[in-house]
Amino acid sequence: MSLQGKTFIITGAGGGMGKATVDLLVQAGANVVGCDLNTSHLKAYEAVENFVSFEGNLLEEQTVKHVFKETEERFGKIDGLANIAGIAQSATPIEKVSLTDFHRIMDINLTMMFLTCREAAIYMKKQNQGRIVNIGSVSTTRPRPGLQSYIASKGAVESFTKALALELAEHHINVNVLHPGPADTTMLGKFTKEDGDVDEARKEIFEKSVPLGRLIQPKDIAGSIKFLLSDEASMITGTVLHVDGGRSI
Ligand SMILES: NC(=O)c1ccc[n+]([C@@H]2O[C@H](COP(=O)([O-])OP(=O)(O)OC[C@H]3O[C@@H](n4cnc5c(N)ncnc54)[C@H](O)[C@@H]3O)[C@@H](O)[C@H]2O)c1
Repeated sequence: MSLQGKTFIITGAGGGMGKATVDLLVQAGANVVGCDLNTSHLKAYEAVENFVSFEGNLLEEQTVKHVFKETEERFGKIDGLANIAGIAQSATPIEKVSLTDFHRIMDINLTMMFLTCREAAIYMKKQNQGRIVNIGSVSTTRPRPGLQSYIASKGAVESFTKALALELAEHHINVNVLHPGPADTTMLGKFTKEDGDVDEARKEIFEKSVPLGRLIQPKDIAGSIKFLLSDEASMITGTVLHVDGGRSI
């Protein structure tokens, strides 16, 4: 899977899965633009010539436009986009979920993806090629109580991805969704009830729900994102890739 010289924009690059993806792509010789609200976890890459970090809120249209413009100016083209940024919901009965919280979850998990994909389409159509990988969640097929808003946002990510795959196919732009299972990042603990025991939930609820017997590691997700961004995946579009140790069976 040669990614040497290709250019990728990664959102949520400062998070668990994002950082693992940056790591793998940089090692593969790709040019990587890592975007996050907080890029402090990406300091180790500051000296890497083919890496650029952008700290900012990708819910702002102008910030998204700026990232794509700067990436093209710096590297000449944009081969791929991985939308990894997202937010969890702590398990909450629907009658206790405020409209503000619902909107916030939909905005971060869905509207932000609309903004980055819209910008990517502009650049990728010009190039007549491109790859987009959107991160959803196994919870779309295996829901848990109290996560209704998060799951709705991730279900929309799947539908949006399929719609875009069809719309952009004539421009040789592949768009796929990857559904992670319960993964060993700080986000996992945020799905627990507000008064719940995070460590116990990780072990007793999440880990035990994975048939292969362990939590998904960020590098498991990164490896599959790398594949979907590679030439080897050139005939894969509109697909749902489950990276969940069998949790969705
Ligand atoms: N961890 C899990 O168990 C799990 C399971 C299924 C799906 N997912 C999904 O995988 C993706 C990555 O999750 P993770 O576990 O690495 O989480 P994480 O919390 O470690 O990383 C998410 C990153 O997104 C960034 N982000 C949030 N809002 C942003 C904004 N407005 N602008 C820019 N950046 C923003 C955060 O700062 C954070 O660094 C998410 O979309 C999540 O919903 C996670």
